[in-house]
Amino acid sequence: MPSQPHLTVVGAGVIGLAVAWRAAAAGHRVTVFDPRPGQAASWVAGGMLAPVTEAWPGEEDVLELGEESLRRWPRFAEELRADGFDPGLSLAGTVVAAFDRADAEQLRILADYLHGLGREATYVTGRQLRHAEPGLGSSVTAGLLVPGDLAVDNRRLLDALRGAARAHGAEFVAEEVVALEPGVVRTATAGHAAELVVLAAGAWSGRLAPRLAGHVRPLKGEILRLRSRRLTLPPPRHTVRAMVEGEPVYLVPREHGELVLGATQYEAGFDTAVTARGVRRLLDNAERVFPGIAEYELTETAAGLRAGSADNLPYLGELGDGVFAATGHHRNGLLLAPVTADAVLAWLAGTEPPPGVTAAHPERMRSEERV
Ligand code: GLY
Repeated sequence: MPSQPHLTVVGAGVIGLAVAWRAAAAGHRVTVFDPRPGQAASWVAGGMLAPVTEAWPGEEDVLELGEESLRRWPRFAEELRADGFDPGLSLAGTVVAAFDRADAEQLRILADYLHGLGREATYVTGRQLRHAEPGLGSSVTAGLLVPGDLAVDNRRLLDALRGAARAHGAEFVAEEVVALEPGVVRTATAGHAAELVVLAAGAWSGRLAPRLAGHVRPLKGEILRLRSRRLTLPPPRHTVRAMVEGEPVYLVPREHGELVLGATQYEAGFDTAVTARGVRRLLDNAERVFPGIAEYELTETAAGLRAGSADNLPYLGELGDGVFAATGHHRNGLLLAPVTADAVLAWLAGTEPPPGVTAAHPERMRSEERV
């Protein structure tokens, strides 16, 4: 049997780690470069696996790819568990809350759009929503029940993927890649022979692949972590997404009374400072939806950089010279990890990639450039 090609992965966020694990498990020799594995955007993520509640008219390709990946999530998690690493997948589902009448109208538009596409999302009154999630405030006027949108503990997932990749023989080099040259990955100290490269460097990908420059851009997001205390209400059982006077906020429960609140979204270059305004907005909006958090402990503030693309679809496919893009996952990196890893396995094997992947080929940048 011919030997499997050696795969070099640039970037150890959720995408790079998922690719490394799956490729190593499939028998490839894998080397991953990242000075701080698992510490960038994926570490800050809310962990929602939510193609339906992230859906937006005009972004049907994003929805299709997201749903394809969501279908792969239970098996992906099961296989990680079979390797001895539990990623903390939650099957509790998602509710969406609207605060005022204008927010409820927005939700109605989303519900109509989703029904038109045949997706499961039930529009309910505020009272019905509080029945599903009793800690919601009395000002919540309407909502959507979306049982199919799930969540995962992003930090457990990152640890699990890294452990499983290592267990299958993937090697990690804690150095930053500064240039990609044909057949070579260059760090500050050396050039490393690289037969096939997967570029999974998130918001930094455009610095390494000129083809992506100006197409993948950083989109800052701030999150907060809170913990319930004795005598406070426990966190919500479901993921709660809300529109509060036109501003989105989400509350994602974790184990042991922890709650992740997210997330702001700004065009702020590579700035990762947590701002007073960002924290205030998140806390204010979250408290209006779920008043019980006012007495929670605030345990962490953090900011990360999503890898935005022009049309919110990632860039998945060959860029040339043996380099494949797996980047630009925007708000959906955790969701899209399984389908992206399966796409890489298909490229390596020369087989058909999963449905929805071809629409995400970087070739579409040419038409973006023409408009
Ligand atoms: N997927 C949630 C976010 O990007 O904030």
